[in-house]
Amino acid sequence: MLKNKKIVYFCQECGYESSKWMGQCPGCRAWNTFVEETVSAKKTSSVGSGLKSSSRRAEPVVLKDIRLSEDERRLTKIGELDRVLGGGVVPGSLVLVGGDPGIGKSTLLLQVCRNLALSGNSVLYISGEESLRQIKLRAERIGEFNENLQLLCETNLETIREVIERKKPSMVVIDSIQTMFHEDISSAPGSVSQVRESTNVLMQIAKGQGVSIFIVGHVTKEGNVAGPRVLEHMVDTVLYFEGDRHASYRILRAVKNRFGSTNEIGVFEMRNTGLEEVKNPSEFMLNGKPNGTSGSIVACSMEGTRPILVEIQALVCQSNFGIPRRTAVGTDFNRVNLLMAVLEKKVGIHLAACDAYVNIAGGMKMTEPAIDLGISLAVVSSCKDIIIPDSVIAFGEVGLSGEVRAVSMAGQRVAEAKKLGFDTVILPEVCKSSVGKVTGVNLIYVSWIQEAIRFIMKNN
Ligand SMILES: Nc1ncnc2c1ncn2[C@@H]1O[C@H](COP(=O)(O)OP(=O)(O)OP(=O)(O)O)[C@@H](O)[C@H]1O
Ligand SMILES: [Mg+2]
Repeated sequence: MLKNKKIVYFCQECGYESSKWMGQCPGCRAWNTFVEETVSAKKTSSVGSGLKSSSRRAEPVVLKDIRLSEDERRLTKIGELDRVLGGGVVPGSLVLVGGDPGIGKSTLLLQVCRNLALSGNSVLYISGEESLRQIKLRAERIGEFNENLQLLCETNLETIREVIERKKPSMVVIDSIQTMFHEDISSAPGSVSQVRESTNVLMQIAKGQGVSIFIVGHVTKEGNVAGPRVLEHMVDTVLYFEGDRHASYRILRAVKNRFGSTNEIGVFEMRNTGLEEVKNPSEFMLNGKPNGTSGSIVACSMEGTRPILVEIQALVCQSNFGIPRRTAVGTDFNRVNLLMAVLEKKVGIHLAACDAYVNIAGGMKMTEPAIDLGISLAVVSSCKDIIIPDSVIAFGEVGLSGEVRAVSMAGQRVAEAKKLGFDTVILPEVCKSSVGKVTGVNLIYVSWIQEAIRFIMKNN
């Protein structure tokens, strides 16, 4: 019976394939993730080539002769998304949008569909998990739609292929890849082989017909798209939609992008009318910052080409235990320990017997070394009970000798601070030449962390 079939075991987390069951996956070290799947022994078409393998003659093309049309990218009119994609949607690209349940993946993609449909593209939204009425309900929240957007509730990929070939849309949304199935694969939808084969088929459709396809992938508890790291190398672009359960904003981050930078982030806010772009994240992040308290300073971190200002808070207090407690929320714990050691040894501030809690307010996660100076000053401010004026911001990397090192794009950071009304910027001396003259802002150049501390003490 199983002549052309064989049984293999796949790790549901990372797609590791094995001929026998194992308790722990050698690939991702997860426990109890192996499941049995029956796969057909016949070889499936090669991934990503978009061409069926055959023995016919192939003719290479001269690179210079390939012509690109003017409007090679389609703008979604959602500025934050266009920037993350690298300037719009590339025809024929396959984009994976991953995210926690309920974060707003379907909402975002429906808004993209609406905008593209309004600008004259034919768009097909295929849902495997919601009924037409449910999609309509969401659409009611978002706004007016025109006749260019068509909906389909379907999970069979061969039917989907037929519909796409017949309707020839310029963009397709598949919500979600875990519900799709291919008849040739006997395992259940959502299993590794189904997800892999389904993506393979979609890749062929995308490349073969030049249609842009967005696929939604659910993230499991462990933080991977289910079945899914398998998908990351097959698709052109991987976007993750993340957010804090307790905050209304959502961040869209490119993890992989064949057509653009992966440094950019898009910030959105979930509203009654759908996802709204947050054009000025700094202002959003600094909302609710307390005035006139110690242990708080504004720092600046670059997210791609955009500077974002955040409030760094620190609380340093006497420890009641032998081993002091250190906590870092929103930034690297080890980095905070390192900076505290520098303050202890090079500046002579006694922190060894103190508990310290460092927090990036607003729920953002920042790991850029440029916030080092901000963290150090916040810790000193809390320890010595110094109030740093509200109009001061600081950025710079702090080295192990206590030196303040250069950071990239200092000019842009200063400009952002000025735009938001800050009048004093503490920054590395080495950035002097790249910043140049700026009117209306008091630039305090420092080479050593001690100089920055002296400055905030003097102004207290
Ligand atoms: N009327 C509303 N006002 C504000 N926010 C809403 C409203 N209705 C829904 N939401 C938000 O939209 C979210 C659901 O969005 P959506 O269905 O796009 O998420 P999803 O990522 O596709 O979820 P799933 O993983 O279930 O497919 C809800 O969690 C809620 O935060
Ligand atoms: Mg959804």
